Amino acid sequence: MQSRFFNDGNGNKVNVDRILDMKKKKEKVAFIAAYDYSSALIYDKAGVDGVLVGDSAAMVMLGYDNTDLIGMQEMLVFCGAVSKAVKRALIIGDMPFGSYQSSPSEAIHNAVLFVKAGCDAVKIEGGTEVSSIIRSIAGAGIPVLGHIGFKPQTSRLWNNQKLHGKTSKTALLLIEDAKELEKAGAFGIVLEMVTDEVAALISRSLSIPTIGIGSGLNCDGQVLVSHDLLGMQENIQLKFVKRYASLYDIIHEAVSSYTKDVKSRNFPQETNCFHMNGDEFAKVLKTLKKEKRASLND
Ligand code: KIV
Repeated sequence: MQSRFFNDGNGNKVNVDRILDMKKKKEKVAFIAAYDYSSALIYDKAGVDGVLVGDSAAMVMLGYDNTDLIGMQEMLVFCGAVSKAVKRALIIGDMPFGSYQSSPSEAIHNAVLFVKAGCDAVKIEGGTEVSSIIRSIAGAGIPVLGHIGFKPQTSRLWNNQKLHGKTSKTALLLIEDAKELEKAGAFGIVLEMVTDEVAALISRSLSIPTIGIGSGLNCDGQVLVSHDLLGMQENIQLKFVKRYASLYDIIHEAVSSYTKDVKSRNFPQETNCFHMNGDEFAKVLKTLKKEKRASLND
């Protein structure tokens, strides 16, 4: 694919050209889904190529039951926070359910709001049915990442099937969808829960990178939800996730110790205190004593 996006040579900043180049050079692409300033600072410094401000924020940040309940305003707050932290990685804003389906002009309008919030690109879920929307947004100059296979926004409304590409019929449909999205101008495609065989075929047949999640070994890159890879949730072990840390246990232990320390007067200690000047303190005590005497004489 010949990129239409201008590379201004802005230091190390990862742009869409760089992501396309990685595909050409067969370098693997590492994305992470993240939502807040403090975490995004760490992930950017750790060297990820892209931070996806995913609508999975609905569940992991806001406690909703599914991704369809999050709206534009909430997504833009998360994007604004992440974009203040990230200096190097590509920032992709996930367009929420209902923000791009009505019309190309509404889709462009909302994609522009993501860019104004600091994103470098947007992501849209769907295959051939959203290709005209992707064409419009990309045509307006905003890079678009596609997303096929399991599509959390709409799969729930149909048969909610998780693994995609198990039969020859669905495999061929997925391959057709991927080609349509590339033709429409997507700079990459997330493949969520696609069989390894089909993900490999799609990855080989496109000149844009595939970013896998639960889609085997052969995608051009990977994306994971930060909370999953860091083990932020108790007792959740997903087959397609590698848990690199158990932050739930670490945080639970730290906050339990803090609570015990407060209750047992073990925190704060003298080393945590700030003191006022002794002469100033003496003046306060003297004044208070005078005031008390005066009130007794009243
Ligand atoms: O919302 C999200 O985090 C995503 C990734 C799982 C791809 O869409």
